[in-house]
Amino acid sequence: MLSGKQIVLGVSGGIAVYKAVELVRLLTKAGADVHVIMTRSAMEFVTPLTFQTLTSNPVHTELFNLIAEREIGHIALADRADLFIVAPATANVIGKIAGGIADDMLTTTIMATKAPVLIAPAMNVNMYTNSLYRENEEKLRCHGYLFVAPAKGMLACGWEGEGKLQAPEVILEEAICALTHRDLTGERFLVTAGPTLEEIDPVRYVSNHSSGKMGYAIARAARRRGAEVVLVAGPTCLDDPWGIETVRVTSALEMRDAVLARVPGSTVIVKAAAVADYRPKARATGKIKKSTEAMTIDLERNPDILSEIGTVKGDRTLVGFAAETGELVENARKKLTGKNVDLLVANDISLEGAGFHGDTNIAKLLHRDGRIEDLPLMGKERMANIILDRIVDLRKRGMRGEE
Ligand code: PMT
Repeated sequence: MLSGKQIVLGVSGGIAVYKAVELVRLLTKAGADVHVIMTRSAMEFVTPLTFQTLTSNPVHTELFNLIAEREIGHIALADRADLFIVAPATANVIGKIAGGIADDMLTTTIMATKAPVLIAPAMNVNMYTNSLYRENEEKLRCHGYLFVAPAKGMLACGWEGEGKLQAPEVILEEAICALTHRDLTGERFLVTAGPTLEEIDPVRYVSNHSSGKMGYAIARAARRRGAEVVLVAGPTCLDDPWGIETVRVTSALEMRDAVLARVPGSTVIVKAAAVADYRPKARATGKIKKSTEAMTIDLERNPDILSEIGTVKGDRTLVGFAAETGELVENARKKLTGKNVDLLVANDISLEGAGFHGDTNIAKLLHRDGRIEDLPLMGKERMANIILDRIVDLRKRGMRGEE
């Protein structure tokens, strides 16, 4: 995700410095080469050795270090950075940056960088809501600095409210966003993911093996590329993705209502959910007791949500999926034309590494002009981005009025 990226992490002094250690671990795990700058007060909480060990790079603490440096340290770091993160960022450091003060290694390097700067504040709630702080943040936002708003909760100082440094996973996600080309800005995505669950009684249900991973990967990638995203998800074990409005549903009927209500507000709809085609005709209110007899459950058809959207889609881009175990192209082609979709992602779920649950998939992309693209075994994240590349093409062609 971040391989080949040079990230400079500025760490200023606050109890949340321990979370910066975890952030460094996540950044390096994602492939980034991380260079840490610590302020003097940050070193009161954690030693430079911790960051040096995790990054395998020297930690910068002094503006003038003539013995160790053959190059002008702050300029070299400022030029090298693809992204500058300040986490935790104290009110003092943010005030200094906003005031154009460059009096230590951290603030001087920020002043000299042309890289995007992502600031993750951490402070007492009264400091965070102080009008002077608010002015500083507003000023920096106007100058293009990016912020990860702090979380609410119990603060180290004993107060409760906004001011907790955001979770390292959230700062990582915002760092990835800051480094991603935003070719979907202005688009409003509606993505479905996961299975639906059709209850037989309060204990049993009919469902399928979808984990939601494919749909979540599409939703996350679309947000990183600048789209506004709403995710309608069936029951999955996955956490709601950061920055994405996630609507949780259980049954196909609930999914249908949630999706159809949001079609008018969307420009692109991606239906990766595995919707149960049938539901029990009647749901027993109490647990059905077992007997020695065989049992038959009457099922009735669920509405086909994708087909319904196909009839009202207008100039929206509609992407469907097909999960098949044989005659992949023939079955998928029927869905492409029968459900009026613009692009169909067909996966043969009987193949090793494709389909439900895993982190990888294998698919064929069926286009309306008859083209078929083979997507070999790859991570769902990578496949999501290829699907989004095709959506970008379709949107551009739509804007030019091409078929
Ligand atoms: O969630 P994962 O574990 O990552 O696995 C998801 C997946 C990798 C298998 C995914 O890529 C996939 O194929 N999802 C759709 C599976 C599916 O339901 O296929 P289908 O052939 O039954 O349905 C075809 C299309 O119609 C799908 O876009 C589906 O969302 C839609 N549909 C189906 C039935 C129905 N009643 N309403 C629908 O909208």
